Amino acid sequence: MSGHKTLTMIKPVAFGKNYTGKILAKITEAGFTISAMKMTKLTIVQAQAFYNVHKERPFYNDLVEFMSSGPIVAAVLEKENAVEEYRKVIGATNPENADKGTIRDLYGTSLQANAVHGSDSDENAEIEASFFFSQLERF
Ligand code: CMP
Repeated sequence: MSGHKTLTMIKPVAFGKNYTGKILAKITEAGFTISAMKMTKLTIVQAQAFYNVHKERPFYNDLVEFMSSGPIVAAVLEKENAVEEYRKVIGATNPENADKGTIRDLYGTSLQANAVHGSDSDENAEIEASFFFSQLERF
């Protein structure tokens, strides 16, 4: 059975352009419930840990530097089949290929600064949610 949660981050450029409110509105309009949320700024070490799965990729160091360059908003989103449903709402990884009206189409500026992160599996959604939130911070 598909899981009901996914983890998102509003990335530094989208946050810096003040798109947070508009992105959260898209998320709730798409039927997601926000069950945990915080504004934070990742250290290099935290960003390395979060994206550890990509550590062999050529873009890893740039991605880590970018993700620790400014504030972000992290949130756990809930809906039936959340991982797949959220990926439809955000669009393709590269904003240039994202369907019209998706979050990455509207608010992304490059492959790296693609507005938001979304978990790619139910297993990673739980790992990523636990990375940011204790049980006391999840509702
Ligand atoms: P995200 O969903 O946060 O997961 C990993 C991120 O790596 C991805 O979004 C992109 O912002 C970034 N990235 C940079 N270069 C690439 C690439 N060539 N392929 C995939 N992801 C990339």
